[in-house]
Amino acid sequence: MISRNTIDQIFQAARVEEVIGDFVNLKKSGSNYKGLSPFSQEKTPSFMVSPAKQIWKDFSSGKGGSVVSFLMEHEQFTYPEALRWLAKRYSIEIEEDRERSDEQIAEARERENQFTLTEFANKWFQQQLWETEEGKSIGYSYFKERGFTKATMQTFQLGYSPKTWDAFTQYALEKGYTFEALQNVGLSVGNLEKPVDRFRERVIFPIHSFSGRTLGFGARILGDNKKTAKYLNSPENEIYHKSKILYGVFQAKQAILKQDECFLVEGYTDVISLHQSGIENVVASSGTALTPEQIRLVKRLTNNLTLVYDGDVAGIKASFRGIDLILEQELNVRVVILPQGEDPDSFARKHKEEEIQHYFKEQAVDFIRFKVSILQGEAGDDPARNSEMIHSVIDSIALIPNLIQRELYVREASSILNISEELLFRQLAVKLIEREKETRKQEQRQTASPLYIAPRTEEKVQVNPFAIIEEDMIQLMIRYGDTEIEMPMPDASNDFYKSTVIEEIITQLQEDEIHFSTPHYREMFIEIQKSFENELDTGEYLLRHANEDMSRLASGLIFEKYRLSNWKKQGIVVPDTKSNLGKRVQEMVLNYKRNVLLQMISIEQAKVNKNVNSDADNTKILQEIIRLTQIKKSLDNILNRAI
Ligand code: CTP
Ligand code: MN
Repeated sequence: MISRNTIDQIFQAARVEEVIGDFVNLKKSGSNYKGLSPFSQEKTPSFMVSPAKQIWKDFSSGKGGSVVSFLMEHEQFTYPEALRWLAKRYSIEIEEDRERSDEQIAEARERENQFTLTEFANKWFQQQLWETEEGKSIGYSYFKERGFTKATMQTFQLGYSPKTWDAFTQYALEKGYTFEALQNVGLSVGNLEKPVDRFRERVIFPIHSFSGRTLGFGARILGDNKKTAKYLNSPENEIYHKSKILYGVFQAKQAILKQDECFLVEGYTDVISLHQSGIENVVASSGTALTPEQIRLVKRLTNNLTLVYDGDVAGIKASFRGIDLILEQELNVRVVILPQGEDPDSFARKHKEEEIQHYFKEQAVDFIRFKVSILQGEAGDDPARNSEMIHSVIDSIALIPNLIQRELYVREASSILNISEELLFRQLAVKLIEREKETRKQEQRQTASPLYIAPRTEEKVQVNPFAIIEEDMIQLMIRYGDTEIEMPMPDASNDFYKSTVIEEIITQLQEDEIHFSTPHYREMFIEIQKSFENELDTGEYLLRHANEDMSRLASGLIFEKYRLSNWKKQGIVVPDTKSNLGKRVQEMVLNYKRNVLLQMISIEQAKVNKNVNSDADNTKILQEIIRLTQIKKSLDNILNRAI
């Protein structure tokens, strides 16, 4: 962990306009800077940077936050990675938290060492390729024969490992690396007496992390010797986890963001050839079944994933499981099948970029068409197998969390399968109920956390109308948190008591045990409470939050100016936000409570209307309604007085 002290130093030194200026062309616009969004393809700039507040906001994608969250979004760094990057740029020495156990520190150091070592090896393999006779005549020629250009070899940092059994190991030992370290990252095997390089006489494909660090290597034999494995990969270790890696993601991430689509292929060379042809938004699962972690990596960049399959893959049915995993994570999945006998590598080499683009566009089908086309061929007229196919399609649809999307897919399935929508919806309902039962069983095992605590009701309720007031309250707390306000005493006297915006809202809601209904705002409220209790600047605390959503939301709420100018254009009069703060807080809180009461009343009312209670129960419910109505009336009175 980077110490709090260092984090503060970094935030003090880093200028958001400077850092973003490295990536985006910014122009002064009033007290802010404006530029074209790096997250979408736009013609009029809607990307804003505020030097005064040290925040940025991208109105085209809704993203925004601090300088750190920009790096996280743009470079796909993790929070600590972004901090380290900034520390380097502003020459700040990183102090680590002493709270960490010795073991954790040792682990982190080990990880660092492994990265240094893989980077060291990566450089060496490249040196062999470009600068040695053997590398040039064997490795370089091999790549050249496969049609890779020099630029491509450099982009993917391709390398070569020579024939000599221990060339790399000896060199690394000379440079001070221990044999144990070399063994740990899987670069050396054997023992210290007779060390052997893992990769010998092979061309090297370094495997990078999201931010471009070398995690491991894939190494291919030259030619087609059937006796040895075609590829030898780094073994699983601290930094190389095959299931969490997508080959090429470092080289592809900008293009994926820009195109808002990602192509997934199988092999290293498929990625490289497509990239060279101009299709840069492509990654590979490296020959293994797609994992949830890999899908999550894609999801950081886009929601649109297109799988590209060879034309003659026998085991294409094995891809069904992967498709289900993708659907579960709410990505749109499509499939392209290449012409017979082609894989992406060969296809890319035979065609121009436009032809490939065109083919992908024309041939991509959604998962239903894909499944049906595969299964229908097998099923023929066999009714049992046809029914199996329908169930398989419905099973996949049932995994999609989004309701509207689910319905659209049912419609489509109905037309493709020539089965009534009604029947399919019924099947879907059965499936969903089964699943619901399962999740409920799981939920019961955990303790339930209610939306807000409403006394004497057990029902969970939909509380969307609250979101608007919740946002207003959060915004007020972020912008004017510690501003002093005068609050009218709750009795009808004309006395006032002193409070602050944040204190008032927090205590008022706590008193009535009200929790925000919107998950995002609820989480934010908890964080605001934390900042309040620790006497931190709430706005800053949220903007610097490690949770991206949090800092994005916060920056959006702080950038009120933009919204105001829009309203003004439409002739709407906006009151000066800072005036009458006390009154506004009071109105907001009372209004919120009033809404909560209204909802509680309607819940009680619904119970009576259901007509299933005993008389005694009904009397109790009516009493409760009366009690709630009275509270609501007294709130109305105060509200009238306030307005
Ligand atoms: N793979 C592997 N080990 C193997 C074979 C394959 O790790 N013994 C992985 C590699 O990541 C490879 C991918 O599976 O890129 C796809 O395998 P394949 O299609 O056989 O290789 P290609 O990448 O197409 O390589 P080439 O075109 O050079 O034959
Ligand atoms: Mn191939």
